Amino acid sequence: MWTRDALRDLIRTKMQGVKFIVVANREPFIHRYDGDRIVVQKPASGMATALDPIMDASGGTWIAHGSGDADREAVDEFDRVRVPPDDPTYTLRRVWLTKEEEKGFYYGLANEGLWPLCHVTFTPPVFRPTDWDMYRAVNRKFADAVLAEAAGEPAFVFIQDYHFCLLPRLLKEANANLIVAQFWHIPWPNREVFRVFPWQEELLHGLLGNDLLGFHIRHHCLNFLETVDRTLEAKVDTERFEITRGGRATTVRPFPISIDADEHAAHANSPAADEAMVRWKRRLGKRTELVGVGIERLDYTKGIPQRLLAVDHLLDTTPDLRGKFKFVQVAVPSRSQVPAYSRLEDEVEGLVADINYKWRDRGWEPILFLKEHQGPTDMAALHRLARFCVVSSLHDGMNLVAKEFVASRADDDGVLILSRFTGAARELPDALLVNPFAPHEIADAMKQAADMPADERAKRMRRMRQQVAENNVYRWAGKILSGLLKFDFPEPAEAGGRGRDSKADDVLVPAPDLYARV
Ligand code: F6P
Repeated sequence: MWTRDALRDLIRTKMQGVKFIVVANREPFIHRYDGDRIVVQKPASGMATALDPIMDASGGTWIAHGSGDADREAVDEFDRVRVPPDDPTYTLRRVWLTKEEEKGFYYGLANEGLWPLCHVTFTPPVFRPTDWDMYRAVNRKFADAVLAEAAGEPAFVFIQDYHFCLLPRLLKEANANLIVAQFWHIPWPNREVFRVFPWQEELLHGLLGNDLLGFHIRHHCLNFLETVDRTLEAKVDTERFEITRGGRATTVRPFPISIDADEHAAHANSPAADEAMVRWKRRLGKRTELVGVGIERLDYTKGIPQRLLAVDHLLDTTPDLRGKFKFVQVAVPSRSQVPAYSRLEDEVEGLVADINYKWRDRGWEPILFLKEHQGPTDMAALHRLARFCVVSSLHDGMNLVAKEFVASRADDDGVLILSRFTGAARELPDALLVNPFAPHEIADAMKQAADMPADERAKRMRRMRQQVAENNVYRWAGKILSGLLKFDFPEPAEAGGRGRDSKADDVLVPAPDLYARV
């Protein structure tokens, strides 16, 4: 069983004397102006939460885009600030992007190009050569920051996500004394989908600069291997999950991300969460007997319209629930500058208004739509109040909300309605699995959850809780770091830009059985 202490031990005993550098576009702490005051915010990001224990134990450096309007006020002359602000344990190094860079790199190539491409949600990706130029330039900018932080010494570099496909190659070419891993937090689509990416060879070549490349599930690893096999000159070994190009190898592995289930459960069942439940009950009104909940970023990959249509269908087919049922949808605004996100916002608001208008009766409405961020205590309270939680992503790498809901339910109650097309569905077969593109299927699952006897709810929830407790975020981090530790730093004579030889057969066990079924 992996714990925070076990991870800390691994880092302190095995990674001593070697720098540890994380690269992610999103920073773990954002300084913003609130009037004249500077406040510090933590972003709504499962990725940032997952990396927290690694950063805490390694005391390393996190390199990220400084996106807050007061970020420059908080850093020293080297653009560094120690964090967390209350009890600093590691360094945040900020990289500054111009408005044009942010537009082309983050909103453009990453979130209008790669995001819809990899999620396969029928939102056409947008590819602009100017965005690709910015993406390249920003990857180079981050490479400079990593190389400056590593200062020529051996370092482990752990890159996050689809914002930095070119970075691993840039780093390896500049300094072979770096061991580089990357975790891809979103799905990797099949080759047929990926082939529409206009700069696919350059992008894949960049990713193959990694020593280790992680995806959530085996299925995404296989898609990646096939994509490379059909696109580049490379030796693709589907037995060992290894790709060799130009004499150097990249090991590809599944690492299902997770949460700290114990910590989450303790917080969700604290007196503060009890008080928040009382407040929510008051807000939902006396007539509410059954609560359903959905909580996520307002993103078109999350299947929010389909879920609202399911509420409508449920009320159509189940008259008993009229007047008594409330569906609470929390949607945190995200990437609002991207047209597909503002269109979604309009669509969701229109649907909520139409459905509430259709069913409104003597002060009762079926949907409470909250387009705002809720703190962790309020989210946990909502999870505990709900008979069911709906995660209807059209496609999702993992989905941590599903795991948070399960961890919140120390009472062994509540039903998880989960899209088949999430990584989490592979680990949580006791959820009611649905096709998120079919509102009637989601509605059927809602009805099943409403009618499910308490003993069956408890049986399913206990099994899911055990799964999430055992496969926690420390296991995710521990497995990736153990993978990094299998690579040797080159002898000084070798460290002039040449990559390591293929030696991946001893790097971690290939995918566990659970993922082998995909
Ligand atoms: O799931 C992919 C991801 O990039 C996460 O790493 C991150 O937590 C989330 O999306 C939010 O994205 P952004 O940083 O663009 O708000």
